[in-house]
Amino acid sequence: MNLQTLAHTEIDRPAGLIRQLRPSDLPLFTEHLKRLDAESRRDRFNGVTDDDFLRAYAHRCFHEGVTVIGYVQNGKVLGAAELHEIPDEDGEPTAEIAFSVERSLQHKGLGGRLFERLIVQARGFGYRRLRVTTHSGNAAMKALARRFNAVLNFEAGETTGVIELGRSDPREVTHYLNAALSAKTPSNMRRAVGD
Ligand SMILES: CC(C)(COP(=O)(O)OP(=O)(O)OC[C@H]1O[C@@H](n2cnc3c(N)ncnc32)[C@H](O)[C@@H]1OP(=O)(O)O)[C@@H](O)C(=O)NCCC(=O)NCCS
Repeated sequence: MNLQTLAHTEIDRPAGLIRQLRPSDLPLFTEHLKRLDAESRRDRFNGVTDDDFLRAYAHRCFHEGVTVIGYVQNGKVLGAAELHEIPDEDGEPTAEIAFSVERSLQHKGLGGRLFERLIVQARGFGYRRLRVTTHSGNAAMKALARRFNAVLNFEAGETTGVIELGRSDPREVTHYLNAALSAKTPSNMRRAVGD
């Protein structure tokens, strides 16, 4: 990741808050998935999904140890990033990541912000590699993965991205320290209280 990556955010000061979802946030996460439009659902799950599937999926995530980072605004989860642990081919635990941003907020930089936050979380767990899979026509997800230096492979209509986390980038740490400090400003605190 480079400085340009960290600087790329159209919603530098979003009205909501990016935070890890709590067990009690399951209904909010479920509602977020159910609000995804048909195309976003197809892009996210590589196929057609109905509400029952999404309800069961959200329940599984929250009961099987999946980490879910949410973008929370006015008491609603409007975007999410998930981290699912999977054994890698060499036996080292790694994680599959996935993203969902509601249509009205897409293409405004939120996916990038969720990605940055997820990477910090993944480093905290000690993962050295992340995987992301999407269908080959998903231009937004491919662009997002490339921005985070994923090495993309195209096979049988699918794109798999592998992100080597390696050692922590000090510029990334600085970015988050700055974000944490600016979060203490009165206007941001007011926003946080509103969530
Ligand atoms: C994929 C997704 C998470 C991206 O979130 P986002 O908030 O729209 O992404 P950002 O605004 O941060 O933009 C990320 C990159 O995608 C590009 N992008 C966004 N929407 C795009 C579109 N419709 N077509 C092409 N590129 C697009 C942006 O230009 C940016 O590229 P850059 O880094 O080269 O500038 C979001 O579109 C989404 O939820 N889609 C439906 C579900 C899905 O596809 N999930 C991914 C499968 S796991």
